[in-house]
Amino acid sequence: MRILSGVQSSGRLHIGNYYGALRQFVQLQDEGEAYFFIANLHALTTVRDPKLAEELTREAAIAYLSLGLDPKKAVLFRQSDVKEVLELNWILGTVVPHAHLERAHSFKDKVAKGISPDFGLFAYPVLMAADILLYSADAVPVGKDQIQHIEFARDWAVKFNVTYVPGYDPQDPEGKEKGHSPGILKLPAARIQESTAVVPGIDGQKMSKSYGNTIELFGDEKEIKKRIMSIKTDSTPVEAPKPTENAPLYDLLKVMLPESRFPEVDASWRAGGKGYGEYKKLLVEAFHDAFGPARKRRQELINDPAELERILQDGAERARAEASRLMQQVRRAVGIP
Ligand code: TYM
Repeated sequence: MRILSGVQSSGRLHIGNYYGALRQFVQLQDEGEAYFFIANLHALTTVRDPKLAEELTREAAIAYLSLGLDPKKAVLFRQSDVKEVLELNWILGTVVPHAHLERAHSFKDKVAKGISPDFGLFAYPVLMAADILLYSADAVPVGKDQIQHIEFARDWAVKFNVTYVPGYDPQDPEGKEKGHSPGILKLPAARIQESTAVVPGIDGQKMSKSYGNTIELFGDEKEIKKRIMSIKTDSTPVEAPKPTENAPLYDLLKVMLPESRFPEVDASWRAGGKGYGEYKKLLVEAFHDAFGPARKRRQELINDPAELERILQDGAERARAEASRLMQQVRRAVGIP
């Protein structure tokens, strides 16, 4: 099984990224051939400062490694190091219905927030589909907000195959039956961990860089504590049982506490007798237990930029080998010598 996913380097990674996606990456690197990359071309749709763009790309790579991705097991690379993705982006774009892009949630959300949309933002899902299809990924571990993007990638892979592969039958995409051909572009599937598909932010909405409600993985310790202490709660008195609906503090405890620890906290939450402040302190501790070791490793990686670059160059080379194999087939299929 080929696994592939990416994280945009448009800001500092937060615990939604970790529990929604990165934690799965670390588990999956042992289960198949894994490709993980930093989507630094996608990040250009929001980051307009070149120094910051570079720094955030490097930070994301360091985060991957410090959270447990092993470059001996998984291919780790920068999206921009494999130029083939831009070629596939264009070719794929020629079979993408304009109407699909108009109904993309991510695009509609950003426009609703008042961001004036440029072509890059509009075409974002096409580049994302190219990311996935270029490496013939079977499974794409992501949080819930990315499902539509992966469905698009599937739809467009089918459209490409129907258009360009003689004998391709969408009912038999792997070409198992006689007279059928397998597609050139493989159909990927999203892989979602239901319990952490949407991690809430400190205000109760989905945790997101663009909502300013994140708890950063590697932020300043004091600031992290402040953010946790400011998680939105209601006015339930200390002695009363606490509600479990619309309660981001409860949801975050559920996500962050070890499974063995949560039932006891859940029981006391439902029984009452403790104030929200106590639970917030518990969450601060859970944060330190979960990310203390990664924060240490991160410091070591920061101190060795040459090693980081070597890992990324090596990953890019391995990714390019795979990308150029697929692009030869794609070029032949569409008539590019
Ligand atoms: P990005 O950078 O916004 O997020 C990276 C991953 O983190 C997940 N995530 C969450 N999961 C649960 N709860 C949350 N609050 C939360 N916030 C973020 C996201 O679902 C994602 O899995 N378009 C992608 C980057 C990308 C990509 C790709 C991903 C570019 N090309 C190809 C997979 C395959 C993005 O912006 O993710």
